[in-house]
Amino acid sequence: MYRLTGVTKRYTRGKETVEALRGVDLTIADGDQLVIQGPTGGGKSTLLQMIGGLDRPSSGSVELDGVDLGTISEAKLTRLRAEKIGIIFQAFNLIPTLTAQENVETALVPLGVKPAERRERAAEALRSVGLGERLSHVPSEMSGGQQQRVAIARALVKNPKVLLADEPTGNLDEGTRDDIMALLEGLWREHGLTFIMVTHDSSIARRAPRLATIKAGQITLTEQGGGAAARQRAYGQQAQGQQAYGEHGPQEQYAQQQYGSYGY
Ligand SMILES: Nc1ncnc2c1ncn2[C@@H]1O[C@H](COP(=O)(O)OP(=O)(O)OP(=O)(O)O)[C@@H](O)[C@H]1O
Ligand SMILES: [Mg+2]
Repeated sequence: MYRLTGVTKRYTRGKETVEALRGVDLTIADGDQLVIQGPTGGGKSTLLQMIGGLDRPSSGSVELDGVDLGTISEAKLTRLRAEKIGIIFQAFNLIPTLTAQENVETALVPLGVKPAERRERAAEALRSVGLGERLSHVPSEMSGGQQQRVAIARALVKNPKVLLADEPTGNLDEGTRDDIMALLEGLWREHGLTFIMVTHDSSIARRAPRLATIKAGQITLTEQGGGAAARQRAYGQQAQGQQAYGEHGPQEQYAQQQYGSYGY
């Protein structure tokens, strides 16, 4: 579980200091779902970065299962992220020169998984998000919704306990948004994930079981009980459905694979 206590984050640029988070207290139980909303610049992405161990607070503590992400060594933090935390972003952040399968495999490289097992697990993860037919396509040969599915597969292939999403449907049209939300909802339940998502979309926020609103670096929590069931009904019909995919041209080129520690 997560326990955030008095978390602040200050960014300094020249003489200017921005207080992006001003004393956030928050507890998130294992397997919970939390949706974070609020005005632009309010501190949503900053909070998600603290929770994901992508950055450290200026003061206060961010504990995951009793480990303080703000004070452990960089090496331990990198390892913890690679093992436990999957992250997806609005812009998908796929590597353009790698195929879907290779993009998903990148998440297993820092864990030392052998190539044959990597290929196997990446293909399985892609099948689980409905992309079994698109393993060898590069991002430019896929739709936005398909690219986000690849990013979801990449986040989940390592079997993390936590899934973080920063506006995962922000670049998608409404129909695709509902498909992706249904997929995420299903995966959340199926894998017992702790799922924390930032969204600007009020129709998503309305359905969240637990809602955090962040304004000017301060958090307000709302329990909306029954939200998960409502969302299940709303998104359920399209859940994990295979779409009618269009035709794609042949792949012209494969650039050299450049695996690194991406922390997805
Ligand atoms: N790396 C940075 N350096 C300086 N200031 C930053 C940095 N990152 C964020 N900020 C500032 O911190 C504040 C909170 O930013 P944050 O990105 O968390 O907002 P947000 O709620 O995610 O907004 P949006 O909805 O536009 O994504 C903003 O004033 C922003 O300008
Ligand atoms: Mg943001």
